[in-house]
Amino acid sequence: MMKKNPRSMRMLFLTHSFNSLTQRLLSELAARGHAISIELDIADSVTEEAVARFRPDLVLAPFLKRAIPESVWSVVPCLIVHPGIPGDRGPAALDWAIQRGETRWGVTVLQAEAEMDAGPVWAAAEFPMRPASKGSLYRNEVTEAAVRAVLKAVERFAAGDFQPQRVPGAAHPAIRQADRQIDWTTQPTADVLARLRAADGFPGVADELFGQPCQLFDAWPEGRLRGAPGTLLARRETALCRATADGAVWIGHVKKPGGIKLPATVAFPEAAELPEAPLAGWWQADHPTWQDIAWREADGVGFLSFRFYNGAMGTAQCRRLTEAFGWATTRPVRVIVLDGGSDFWSNGIHLNLIEAADSPADESWANINAIDDLAEAILRCQTQLTVAAVGGNAGAGGCFLARACDRVWVRDGVVLNPHYKNMGNLYGSEFWTYLLPPRVGADGARAIMQHRLPMPAAEAVACGFYDACLPAPGFAVDVARRALEMAQAANFPAQLADKVARRAADEAAKPLAQYREEELAAMRRNFYGFDPAYHVARYHFVHKSPHSWTPRHLARHRDLDWIIPT
Ligand code: COA
Repeated sequence: MMKKNPRSMRMLFLTHSFNSLTQRLLSELAARGHAISIELDIADSVTEEAVARFRPDLVLAPFLKRAIPESVWSVVPCLIVHPGIPGDRGPAALDWAIQRGETRWGVTVLQAEAEMDAGPVWAAAEFPMRPASKGSLYRNEVTEAAVRAVLKAVERFAAGDFQPQRVPGAAHPAIRQADRQIDWTTQPTADVLARLRAADGFPGVADELFGQPCQLFDAWPEGRLRGAPGTLLARRETALCRATADGAVWIGHVKKPGGIKLPATVAFPEAAELPEAPLAGWWQADHPTWQDIAWREADGVGFLSFRFYNGAMGTAQCRRLTEAFGWATTRPVRVIVLDGGSDFWSNGIHLNLIEAADSPADESWANINAIDDLAEAILRCQTQLTVAAVGGNAGAGGCFLARACDRVWVRDGVVLNPHYKNMGNLYGSEFWTYLLPPRVGADGARAIMQHRLPMPAAEAVACGFYDACLPAPGFAVDVARRALEMAQAANFPAQLADKVARRAADEAAKPLAQYREEELAAMRRNFYGFDPAYHVARYHFVHKSPHSWTPRHLARHRDLDWIIPT
């Protein structure tokens, strides 16, 4: 095989969607100097045309739902990222692994051939399994392993002297709803959780609530509540608690047939009749339970954790988090760390709840105002220094909400999408017009908002948008140590006084209210104006409409002005 310069390979990504793993691989490979273009897997003829136009050295398939046609894999090497260990073949690899209770799992990069997942293996990487949903494992362990395996495979391919080996294996069948079914009266919590997690975020476990069919998502263990197995025991905020054979679990989200994924009590108003099981305040509970907002404090540092499913922040969630933040500022702490979930820090307003509302325009307006109230509360905080610990991906308004904090520390490997354009040309709010330009300059701000491309954590720090990129292993420990150092710094009072003075100077130059008004005037046009682009884009996003073409900013090979590096 010919030796290729690893700095200049041309790679075509063929993928079902431009998902988080695809975005991460794009940033890792582009940072290593490769010329990458993307084609969504729409039709074989489209893929064939992309290959003919781009003439890639390699096709990489990070996330495919169907086989690559022979007309493609027979003319260019195609490497598939399979979320399973070498020898594992077939669909739903991760679903089966979780449901079987595997303790270690992995990712294999193999070459496409006629038989699915049976081609020679270029590289593989393993990881220990964590008791978490499929989506969470995918966004964390699988993604990290995939990056390691793909970089190794690409290096081997470029070196030209590696002979990929076939690994014997057998294909497991597709996983059916019958395989996922839960018997609430006989199955213990551990089994119930494994089944729910194996099906989350797609397709969920088919079941019944209030006598109606639905799919269940977003499971949390419950340590205290007990009752007759299978019965619904309680509700808390938007979640429902159901008894298992030996305990209970919370269900956070459901999807009714033909509907969209929604918080459980929103989908089932009947839940109002269940007894409420509130938590006592914002303190982190001392037993496993459903708790989307939790506070803990030690040595002058407070951690306000928020784990909102898919990072989506609806009106009520924003209001509750604003309330919790206001309460946190009254605590005897010097530093408040806003600690979002490990999957997503925040993805901005809750597009599913908006879609389900009687008036999506009114709900969009309420939601953007609620998230702006939260951003404003953080910006106006005069009693503590605030830190956003961005340990999971963030998109759109979520990226700017983090920036409202005095410091933003982001985990290496996190992918940010700090722009709104992909959602029907939304103008955006969350004070981005106040927060972004001073950090990246007017041109930088324009580039970020217009280019619509993901931004890796390291780049966000390099361009000045965020403050520090911390290594992935030990991120939480590192955050806690740095926050403690901040709280114990001898010049803490001076730092706080400096922040208060800068805010006052900024307010005198142009009040926050004016930034907000200007942003919201544009958002009002997005929500209520003649151009329905936002409502159309949201509909397609929420309903997961299949792509009918690859956006130009991804399919660079279709851009006649793009000079392909040789
Ligand atoms: N509201 C509701 N659901 C959202 C959401 C939002 N703002 N952002 C993401 N989600 C959901 C997705 O629908 C998907 O749902 P699923 O569990 O049914 O599959 C899930 O979160 C994961 O999203 P996905 O797109 O698969 O994740 P990703 O990591 O590949 O991509 C983003 C992340 C941020 C690029 C992408 O989710 C996105 O563009 N989100 C919209 C951001 C936005 O426009 N917010 C509103 C403006 S403030």
